Amino acid sequence: MSFRLQPPAPARANRCQLFAPGSRPELFVKMAASGADVINLDLEDSVAPDDKPKAREAIIAAISAVDWGRKVLSVRINALDTPFWYRDVVDLLEKAGDRLDQVMIPKVGCAEDIYAVDALVTAVERAMGRKKPIRFEVIIESAAGISHVEAIAAASPRLVAMSLGAADFAASMGMQTTGIGGTQENYYMLRDGVRHWSDPWHWAQAAIVAACRTHGLLPVDGPFGDFNDDEGFRAQARRAATLGMVGKWAIHPKQVALANEVFTPSASQLTEAREILAAMAAAKAAGQGATVYKGRLVDIASIRQAEVIVAQADLIGGA
Ligand code: COA
Ligand code: MG
Repeated sequence: MSFRLQPPAPARANRCQLFAPGSRPELFVKMAASGADVINLDLEDSVAPDDKPKAREAIIAAISAVDWGRKVLSVRINALDTPFWYRDVVDLLEKAGDRLDQVMIPKVGCAEDIYAVDALVTAVERAMGRKKPIRFEVIIESAAGISHVEAIAAASPRLVAMSLGAADFAASMGMQTTGIGGTQENYYMLRDGVRHWSDPWHWAQAAIVAACRTHGLLPVDGPFGDFNDDEGFRAQARRAATLGMVGKWAIHPKQVALANEVFTPSASQLTEAREILAAMAAAKAAGQGATVYKGRLVDIASIRQAEVIVAQADLIGGA
C-alpha cells in the first residue's frame, strides 16, 4: 500500500438503487416496500420540463410522509446546464425535512460542478440550521465526466457514490447505439469467422471503480434498459461486480431482486473466502506466507481478496 492509505467506502449496503419519476408519486410507497437498498426519486430526465414543479412538490411531500424504513433516500436533481437545478436544491434543502440523505448530481463534467452544488447546499444548510449534512452521489455519463473522473471523485467530502450512466455516456461519446447498457451488436472481435462479443462499458466502469476506490466512494453500475431481459441484466451486473462495483440501478421493480442476487456474495463464494482465510491462517502458523488451496496459489494478497467478500457479506447481513 502507498504511504497514503486507501480510504474505506461508506460501510453500507448499496446493491440496488431503485428509480422512479418524481411525476409518478403513486409509485413512491411501492418503492419504499421494495427490496432496494437505495431509493432515487427523479427530478431529471424521467420528468418532462413542464412537470418539474409538480414533481418537486410531490417528492418534498413524500420525503416526510412515506415510511422509507432504513433505506438510503436520494433525489436526482437536474443537471447544471438547466434552469432547474438551483430550485431543486433550494426547495429540497429548505422544505424536505431531515429524512433526505442524498442528492444525486447528474451529468457531472468536472470537479467545479460539484463545488457549485456544494456551495449552494452548504449555504442553505447553514441558513436552515440543518443538523444532518446532505451527501452527494454523482453520475458519470459524459466524455468530460470520464475524462475528469478522478478529480470529480475527490471534489467534496459530501461524496459517497458514483454511478455510470450508460445511455447519456453513449450519446456524449458519439457511440453508435441506442441500447442502455449490455451487449452491443457491433462490438465484437472476429476469430476464424466466429464473433466474440466484447464489453464497450468495461473501461468506463474500471475508471470509475479506480477513482472511487482511490477516494473512498461506492462505485455503482447504472441502468440496464431492457427490463424484460433478466439474463442480460444478470450478465451486465456480474461483470460490474467482478470489476469491483457494489451495486446497480433498477429502472423497474423486476430488476431489484436480480441486483440483490448478484451483489450479495453467494454461499459458495463466502465458503471459499473463509476457507482461503483459514488456509492462510494455517500457513502463517507454519511460518509460510503462501500456500496451496484447491491446487492454486494463495498468498497474503489472497487474504485481502477474501476479506473483501467476507466484509461485503457481513455488511449486507447486518443491513
Ligand atoms: N418503482 C416502483 N414500482 C414500480 C416502478 C418503479 N420504478 N415502475 C413500475 N412499478 C410498479 C407498477 O406501478 C406496477 O404495480 P402494480 O402491479 O401494483 O400495478 C408494477 O410495478 C408493474 O409495472 P409495469 O406496468 O410493468 O410498469 P409501468 O408500465 O407502469 O412503468 C416504466 C414502466 C419503465 C415506465 C417505469 O418502471 C419507470 O418509470 N421506471 C423508472 C424510470 C426512471 O426513473 N428513469 C430514470 C433513471 S434511468
Ligand atoms: Mg442520464
